Amino acid sequence: MTDARAILAKKRDGGALTGGESRAFLEGYVAGEIPESFAAALLMAIFLRGMERGELRDWTAAMIGSGERWDWSELRAPTADKHSTGGIGDKVSIPLAPAVAACGVLVPMISGRGLGHTGGTLDKLEAIPGFRTGLTREDVRRCLERNGLAFGAQTQELVPADRQLYALRDVTGLIESLPLIASSILSKKIAEGARALVLDVKFGSGAFLPEPERGAELARTMIELAEASGVRAVAYQTAMDRPLGLAAGNGVEIAESLACLEGKGPPDLRELVVLLGGEMLVQAGVERELERARARIARALDDGSALERFRRAVEGQGGDVRALERPRELYARELVHVEAERAGHLAWRDLRQIGLALLELGGGRRRVEDAVDPRAGILFLERAGARLERGQPVLALAVTDRRKLAPALARARAAFEVSDAPPAPAPLVLARLAAPGLERAPPRTASG
Ligand code: URA
Repeated sequence: MTDARAILAKKRDGGALTGGESRAFLEGYVAGEIPESFAAALLMAIFLRGMERGELRDWTAAMIGSGERWDWSELRAPTADKHSTGGIGDKVSIPLAPAVAACGVLVPMISGRGLGHTGGTLDKLEAIPGFRTGLTREDVRRCLERNGLAFGAQTQELVPADRQLYALRDVTGLIESLPLIASSILSKKIAEGARALVLDVKFGSGAFLPEPERGAELARTMIELAEASGVRAVAYQTAMDRPLGLAAGNGVEIAESLACLEGKGPPDLRELVVLLGGEMLVQAGVERELERARARIARALDDGSALERFRRAVEGQGGDVRALERPRELYARELVHVEAERAGHLAWRDLRQIGLALLELGGGRRRVEDAVDPRAGILFLERAGARLERGQPVLALAVTDRRKLAPALARARAAFEVSDAPPAPAPLVLARLAAPGLERAPPRTASG
C-alpha cells in the first residue's frame, strides 16, 4: 500500500505533491485501499494549503487517469462542450447544445445535478417525463452519431476519483476550494472527450463565487488545466447579480429553454446562448470569426434546426416528446405571488435566497443523494430596475406542496428590495479570458 500517511503529512505541512504522489493516493483511494478518513484529511489540507500550478496540473491528470478517457475522433467531427459555474435560472446548456450540434459540432455533454442554491442540467432535463441521463459510453456514442449531442451524467468509469471526492467534499464542507473545484470540473470535461471548452464563470450574489476577482482566478486556472491536456478553452465572466431569464426551477426552465429554441424567450438567455455557442464553433474550428459564428447559432435557433435536434435528443434519451408540446404542464399549476411592499424600483439584494427558496419548495437538493421535485419553480415577473407599484407581483412561486410555502416565501422576500432609485446593472458579459497570447477584448453584446 502507498504510504498515504506520508503524503498526507507532506500536504499538511504545506509541501507540493509530486505527480507520482497524487497518482498513488488517488489510485489507492479509488481501489478502496486508502480509507475515507485519509481522503478527507488530504482534502482539508488542500483546502487550507492550496496547490501550486504544476502540482494542480498533475493532480488533475491523476484524477482523469483514475478512470476512462473518452475519444470521439473516429466520428470525424469536431467536439466541444461548455461548463457554467451556475446560478439562478442558468439553463443555457439546454438550448445551446442542440444549437451547436445543428452547426456541425458534436457535444458530448456530461453535466451535474443541482446542489445547495444552484440547479443542475441533469435535474432540468429529467423534468421531461422519461428522459434518461444515465448513459453509458456506448449510449453517448450512439447519441452523438445520431443527433450530434448527448446529455449524460458522470458514469462509474468517468473520473471515479472525482465521484468519490465530490461526495466527501459535500459532507465535510470542502466544496469551496479553488483547486478542488477547478480539478473536479476540468477532469470530467477533459475525460468526456471534448476537444474545445467554453467556460461560463458567473459573478454576483447568485453565483458560486460572487466576487469577479475570484471568478477570474478560477477561470484562468481552468483554462490552464484544459490547455495542459490539449483542450482549447476560453472563459466568459457573466452576470449572476440578477436571474438569467425569467424562470428558475426544473420543469419551468425546460419550458423557457423551449421558447429559446423556438427563436423566442428572454433576450438575456438568447444572448448568452448565441455568444457561448458561437465561441464553441470558433474554438472547435468550424468558424474563424466570432461574429459569423454567432450569426450561425442565431439562425439555428430561428430556423427550427436547433429545436429539431433537441426533439431528437429527447426522443433518443427516452423522453416523451409530447411533453414538449405542453410546456405549461412541466411546472406546478398553483402559483403564489410575492408582491412589492411599497412603490419604487426592483433591486436584487441577495439572489442566493431565490435558490434557497426553490430548495424550500422542493426544487433543489441539500445533499447529493436527495431527490428533487421537477414541478416546483419560481417565475420572475419583473426585471431588475423595473418600476413597481405597491402590491405589484414581483415573483410567482410554483407550488406543489403548500406546507413548504412559508419558509420559501421568507427566502423569496429576502432576495430583493424596493429601492427609490433604479439600481445600476452589471454588464451581462464582463470579460472574456483566454490562454496567454490568445486574449481578445470582450465582445460587444446587446446589453453591454
Ligand atoms: N461542479 C463540479 O463538478 N465540481 C465542483 O467542485 C464544483 C462544481
